[in-house]
Amino acid sequence: MGPPGAGKGSVSERLADKFGMAHLSSGDILRAERSSGSELGETLKKYMDAGELVPDEIVIKIIIKSISSLDSSKGLLLDGFPRTVIQAKQLDDALAKAGLPIQAVLLLDAPEEVLLKRITGRRICPKCGRVYHIETMPPAKDNICDTCGTKLIHRDDDTEQVVRERINLYHKETEPVIEYYRKSGVKIIEVDADATIDEVVERAIEGIRQANLLEKEGRTSA
Ligand code: AP5
Repeated sequence: MGPPGAGKGSVSERLADKFGMAHLSSGDILRAERSSGSELGETLKKYMDAGELVPDEIVIKIIIKSISSLDSSKGLLLDGFPRTVIQAKQLDDALAKAGLPIQAVLLLDAPEEVLLKRITGRRICPKCGRVYHIETMPPAKDNICDTCGTKLIHRDDDTEQVVRERINLYHKETEPVIEYYRKSGVKIIEVDADATIDEVVERAIEGIRQANLLEKEGRTSA
């Protein structure tokens, strides 16, 4: 969890790679539906371009269906879901049925001016989803994806005005989810994400190690 630009996508991709876990990004799933041209995609576009949250009744159905289609035998890293207390409660119910309780919440944070700089400079590959930053993580060839050679794009919701709205909504709707997990006794691993990506990933791994999650899973080599 964390506000827009904290590095949820970048960090979870690397952690998933390292630990062989499945990685599910609610933003990526919703964007894929959006670009499919479906009627549902048109509805999603309206909320996402304005920086608003997609209504719970829509997002819960889509994400819980996606979770059940993944191979989570080595664990599951959820990125961007849940974002409201209602989503968290429904997720708890679904995971309890699947016998997959939440082990920890990894919480990334950075000052607002850092978040704004990261988001407004972000570029993404519309084909393979790889994420870049014009200053801190530029592609080797200007505006072209290193992985698949596709022209990079600027997300429609990555303007300063929309990001400010997304940050406000994070404080209003998503911070209460952290409190919900704290009260439920779930471990919260707080990571200061105002550092280079390599350092943030190291800090996250150290937090996971200190929470004894690796030993429980038998992943002592990380
Ligand atoms: P989503 O795509 O999840 O957006 P977000 O939460 O606003 O998060 P971001 O993807 O913007 O940031 P991030 O923290 O993943 O940062 P990243 O690693 O990319 O959701 C988009 C929309 O979908 C929402 O607004 C909503 O409408 C809808 N939605 C999604 N889930 C929903 C839900 N559960 N309920 C309802 N609606 C939902 O990094 C950002 C940039 O910074 C990149 O350029 C990266 O290269 C750079 N960077 C990252 N870390 C570092 C670092 N340490 N140093 C330097 N640069 C860095």
